[in-house]
Amino acid sequence: MEIIKDISGIKDRLSNEKKAGHNIGLVPTMGYLHEGHLNLIKKAVENNDVVVVSIFVNPTQFGPEEDYEEYPRDLDRDARLAKKTGVDYIFSPEPDEMYFADHSTFVQVEELTDRLCGAFREGHFRGVATVVSKLFNIIMPDKAYFGQKDFQQFVILKRMVRDLNIPVAMERIPTVREEDGLAVSSRNKYLSERGRETAAVLYKSLKKARSLIKKGENDPEKIKNKIEAMIQKHDLTEIEYIEIVDPETLKSREEIRDKVVIALAVYVEETRLIDNIYLDREEIPHA
Ligand code: PAF
Repeated sequence: MEIIKDISGIKDRLSNEKKAGHNIGLVPTMGYLHEGHLNLIKKAVENNDVVVVSIFVNPTQFGPEEDYEEYPRDLDRDARLAKKTGVDYIFSPEPDEMYFADHSTFVQVEELTDRLCGAFREGHFRGVATVVSKLFNIIMPDKAYFGQKDFQQFVILKRMVRDLNIPVAMERIPTVREEDGLAVSSRNKYLSERGRETAAVLYKSLKKARSLIKKGENDPEKIKNKIEAMIQKHDLTEIEYIEIVDPETLKSREEIRDKVVIALAVYVEETRLIDNIYLDREEIPHA
């Protein structure tokens, strides 16, 4: 495995791989790899000749009050884990390799970015779409792998790829969870022991919602109220949003009669956590 920090270096290596007829899988990450990332990498290794993991804490997707400086970074540890999992190249540029001092071009996916997390994190998805399109231009992967936990991110990037005719297959991989159901995330490490125990209620409430829908409840407001009540029982939590949406448009559903995503963002202590579940048409009695 090679760690490459410059754009021309990774392009050289990958152009040789392409000449050799190898197809390329990309797993874009911000590093501090956890089981969720390793699961994406495993899928990429299974399905591609060459796997590139990008590790780049992207400044343009963090708001001024967000945790860009504190975001955990440990390239040596990441490299050990990536190598063990079968990665061929880590692309780990510094910010000034990715962005010119006078960088002035951004990718804005309209509407989808205003909903859910986008309503609370201004400019976040513009930063994500911009950096991912740059990574696609640099790496030119055949397939790119993203986690279901960041469902909105996936929907936005898929729309970007479609709208801009970017020749990459987008793969959405199920969320990896801790034993108590908490979605694995780099930010879980910010939680205290009590916060960590509390955080399990997020998935518990989503599972409860799934079971209510399967039993026939089709009123989104009733489901949201149930989730809210379960979460609010815990004093360390503050709900940002709970939404039940169409998985393609991300618009709120008035009634649950077709596939839905139930998504939420909740602060546990100071840490903002997100999670979601996807319910297929087959799981919905009124569909
Ligand atoms: O999901 C992430 O870790 C980031 O948003 C991504 C896709 C690597 C872009 O910086």
